[in-house]
Amino acid sequence: MAAATIVFLPCWGSGHFMSMIEAGKRMLASSGGALSLTVLVMQAPSAAKASEVEDHVRREAASGLDIRFLRLPAIEPPTDCKAPEEFNFRYIQLHAPHVAEAIAGLASPVAAIVVDLFCTPLLDVARKLAVPRYVYFASTGAFLALMLCLPTLREQLTVSFREMEGTVHVPGLPPVPSSYMPACLASKKTNNIQCFEYYGRRFMDASGIIVNSSVELERGVLTAIADGRCVLGRPAPVVHAIGPVIWFGAREEPHECVQWLHSQPSASVVFLCFGSIGFLDRAQVEEIAAGLERSGHRFLWVLRGPPAAGSSYPTDADLDATLPSGFLKRTEGRGLVWPSWSPQKEVLAHPAVGGFVTHCGWNSVLESLWFGVPMVPWPLYGEQHLNAFELIADMGVAVQLKKMDRSKEDFFVEAAELEQAVRGLMGETAKGSKAREKALEMKATCRKAVAEGGSSYAALRKLVLEISPGGEGPSP
Ligand SMILES: *[C@@H]1O[C@H](CO)[C@@H](O)[C@H](O)[C@H]1NC(C)=O
Repeated sequence: MAAATIVFLPCWGSGHFMSMIEAGKRMLASSGGALSLTVLVMQAPSAAKASEVEDHVRREAASGLDIRFLRLPAIEPPTDCKAPEEFNFRYIQLHAPHVAEAIAGLASPVAAIVVDLFCTPLLDVARKLAVPRYVYFASTGAFLALMLCLPTLREQLTVSFREMEGTVHVPGLPPVPSSYMPACLASKKTNNIQCFEYYGRRFMDASGIIVNSSVELERGVLTAIADGRCVLGRPAPVVHAIGPVIWFGAREEPHECVQWLHSQPSASVVFLCFGSIGFLDRAQVEEIAAGLERSGHRFLWVLRGPPAAGSSYPTDADLDATLPSGFLKRTEGRGLVWPSWSPQKEVLAHPAVGGFVTHCGWNSVLESLWFGVPMVPWPLYGEQHLNAFELIADMGVAVQLKKMDRSKEDFFVEAAELEQAVRGLMGETAKGSKAREKALEMKATCRKAVAEGGSSYAALRKLVLEISPGGEGPSP
């Protein structure tokens, strides 16, 4: 058995949970058996999410790696919260005594505690135990920089991000138009900026922050954080950029989407997919259909139906009822509309795919970059607007769909706008060709970063050495 264990405290959201477990596995591998992994599993607040987490746990527990899952006792959920973010915050905070107890009961010494970005209310438990404490930040360095700046930015702002005009200064990025501020900080529907400000402050109490990115992908922002340009007068914790690695699980029969791609020419297909909770209404679907049809390009479109009552997950779409009549017939052979889950990684890895219309969740973006696929960002929620801006204005790997306009709460795209963007993405414009070139450069960059001798490889090694038994510990 390993001499010491790293304690992980992930959040229940699938993207966060699995990204963190992957980081844990890579830390284990890099430690060469010196460390084991103990994952403290909070019970998710909804049955659907809880069962999803259970699926992950069951699969990973059977992986044969040195990982132990400990389920924390259920807590009584708070009932008087105004916004979902406040609920999450308090729900997580209530786990503090259980986390302390679980850790006290561990047989092996604790090398470090790593918490999800939303679990920073639990950093104090680590502080009391006097072990190194890290935040796992499952998003971009750019969003991290923004969150670190948030307390200062808010002091300077007289109106909300949604109402303000002009640009926001995020150290290391070109000036960010206020319309590209993350929906989680700027949307009318949520009133949660205080929570994010709290998280931003708490990051400063960590011994280090782990991000699923690489120095080469986000040099500007990561340098700005390291140079102390986000929180003036206080050096930020060291950021360990250890990503990205994309790997495939055991491959079964190729999925039908992949089989369809086999019959398409190289780099000819535009792939549209809006993430595990992305769902667009009927009017928007009609515009997409018309835009795709007019663009003349080949497409693979993952189209989901509305979530069932009480769920946030889309259902399988009823294509005949949703698509304009005759659409499937008219696009037969050059287009596939897929109404259900699709294997996004396998699709993006396929040589027939030439572009990706994406909601810009960071996991999706990393997959696209890993396979060198240029993007058209269609941000929906969370921090995705900022990701979109970074892809367009900083990395240059994306073609803009349309100007963002926050005065309209819903982002509605007309057929002609999508048609133009798709034509550009597929190389009909100089901007599009440039994005395509850039995306291929990023593919090489990502792979170099995580290969032996690369920056992310070295960052992972350094992180593991500092927490391993006999290691130096995190830098002060
Ligand atoms: C980083 O993101 C990629 C893309 O979603 C994911 O496959 C991977 O598990 C994430 N985590 C790490 C540590 O690489």
